[in-house]
Amino acid sequence: MKKRGKRNLEHYFTNNTDLKSELRDINFALSEYNFMFKSDNGVFSKNKIDYASLFLVKTYLKYKEKDASSILDVGCGYGFIGITLSKILNTHVDMVDINKRAVHLCKMNIDINKVDADVSLSNIYENVTNNYDLIITNPPIRAGKDVLMEFLKGGLAKLNKDGELWFVISKEKGAKSVKKEMEKLCTCQLIDKSKGFWIILCKN
Ligand SMILES: C[S@@+](CC[C@H](N)C(=O)[O-])C[C@H]1O[C@@H](n2cnc3c(N)ncnc32)[C@H](O)[C@@H]1O
Repeated sequence: MKKRGKRNLEHYFTNNTDLKSELRDINFALSEYNFMFKSDNGVFSKNKIDYASLFLVKTYLKYKEKDASSILDVGCGYGFIGITLSKILNTHVDMVDINKRAVHLCKMNIDINKVDADVSLSNIYENVTNNYDLIITNPPIRAGKDVLMEFLKGGLAKLNKDGELWFVISKEKGAKSVKKEMEKLCTCQLIDKSKGFWIILCKN
């Protein structure tokens, strides 16, 4: 069996400054646009666009009933969700992540893809001062239930009137119970399912 070194035990959301940088490019076409994302060791889904994030973006674009004029992508990683939405919807998007390397990559990717977006370092909503029409997230399940629920419950508190919280969660990782818990606080709707991933829309 292969020995698990320290590197293998690192989570993608930890700030490991010792981790060697090996920048790579991910080219991706969506809608009529060609995107290019810089990625690196130590960030989520470093080698390819994550299936669940893509499903979230596609589902949001397919089923959204209104335009959001302010959008937050929380736990943005290198920026796939926020950058594609900003480009396709031609609107400003704010993004936050706790991982310094992800924030650095996301900054580069905002410039490379020429979108109107800002990214900053934040532990969940700690440095988020605005409220939003749309908060969208592929939350970090591996960070544990408390962090996951703070991504979601905390998001409700950051919504404008009639604002929407959209997220993706795997059925295997507790989609049903998370939806049930959110239903105690707000209205939740299962919008679509694919390959065990659920897209959930919550409104206050
Ligand atoms: C499942 S990944 C999604 C990344 C990105 N949105 C994508 O679609 O590729 C979850 C992200 O949440 C970030 N994260 C984990 N804990 C966090 C926290 N406490 N505050 C902010 N971001 C966090 C991770 O660094 C990671 O980038």
